[in-house]
Amino acid sequence: MKYPDFWHKEIPCSNQQAIQAELKTFLADRITKLEKIGIGFEHIDDIQGFVEATPSLNAWLKELGCSFYRNIALVVIGANKNQNIHTDAQKNDLALNIGLQVKNTTTQMYKIAEGEPVEVPYGSQGLVYISYKNCKIEPYTNFSLEFQPVLFNTKHVHNVVNPTDATRIAISMRFIEDPAHLLNH
Ligand SMILES: [Fe+2]
Repeated sequence: MKYPDFWHKEIPCSNQQAIQAELKTFLADRITKLEKIGIGFEHIDDIQGFVEATPSLNAWLKELGCSFYRNIALVVIGANKNQNIHTDAQKNDLALNIGLQVKNTTTQMYKIAEGEPVEVPYGSQGLVYISYKNCKIEPYTNFSLEFQPVLFNTKHVHNVVNPTDATRIAISMRFIEDPAHLLNH
């Protein structure tokens, strides 16, 4: 883990409403589809289309000094559902998340109190996932996307908790270079 002392941080955004409106428009069909399934995660494969549809977001990311996207995911968690407790297996450690419909939901983060995570193979393509079944984990901190975008460390153990009757919708952005300069911003 590259940034063991970093957990999460709000990144102030004065233009968040315009950014959310752009995202909701561009993602409307995908959101409808994932809402029907109730829980889901979808990478935006049309990054060029996404960039063209989100000028306010581009301007803000430029201001922040973020490099080009590595990937963008739409994360949809159904009403009264919690995500499995996990760490992200992706190349980057830091994710910048923006809430689209997140009232009264949180991302809970955990500390490993005892034991070591183990890599467990799955499928036939050499993939692994990280299991915490041998670990004792304890809630450590949490954050909400209700107020501002949040930068967080996806290599700490975490899950989205949605105790509400509404679907929780957010986007999660990774960049070619982790925006580590924002940790001390
Ligand atoms: Fe995650």
